[in-house]
Amino acid sequence: MKGIVFNLLQDVVTQHHGEDVWDDLIDAAGVDGVYTSAGSYSDDEMAALVGAASDKLGLSQSEVLRWFGQQAMPLLAKHYPGFFEGHASARSFILSVNDIIHVEVRKLYVGAECPYFHFQEKADGSLSMDYRSTRRLCALGQGFVEGTGVHYGEAIDFQHAQCIDRGDAACVFHIRWPQLAVS
Ligand code: HEM
Repeated sequence: MKGIVFNLLQDVVTQHHGEDVWDDLIDAAGVDGVYTSAGSYSDDEMAALVGAASDKLGLSQSEVLRWFGQQAMPLLAKHYPGFFEGHASARSFILSVNDIIHVEVRKLYVGAECPYFHFQEKADGSLSMDYRSTRRLCALGQGFVEGTGVHYGEAIDFQHAQCIDRGDAACVFHIRWPQLAVS
């Protein structure tokens, strides 16, 4: 996993809980905690940090990842405004993740292994989004989507309809905009 993701986790934890808590997570995870944004680090290191955060903050590992994704979105909007500026809505931004955002991310961070989502656009404006990755970071993806809603000032109803952690073959997200719902 690229160092940028570790840098984001550090920023989010420090912003909400302070530098001492980040230092505690580094110690508990048994990692050295030095990450350059373009460097590549073992996925196990991220898992160890998420595990340490789960113990320290009293959240499940999925809750840590979801929270991290939600809170990372304002930082991503600050550091990468170009990904957001061309979009007037969360739906349009989310639909650009495969063909624009993660394509650019792979150019910026050589070796980045970004997931590919299969989208279905429904007649009522809702989206279905399939996620398959050996990293099993679906909760991070959920947090990114929810954080995108906050960024665009929209209420989003997010259903994790299928999940590999519940024994399903893949994760399927159903994303609905209640204000667009047709009754
Ligand atoms: C709603 C929008 C987005 C969604 C749903 C999303 C989802 C994800 C997920 C689930 C991963 C984990 C990797 C895996 O599962 O194998 C990931 C990785 C990543 N994403 Fe996105 N992402 C979004 C937007 C962005 C944006 C705006 C950036 C801006 C830089 C970004 C940069 C990255 C990077 C750097 C990685 C790590 C790749 C690696 O270390 O190999 N993503 N994304």
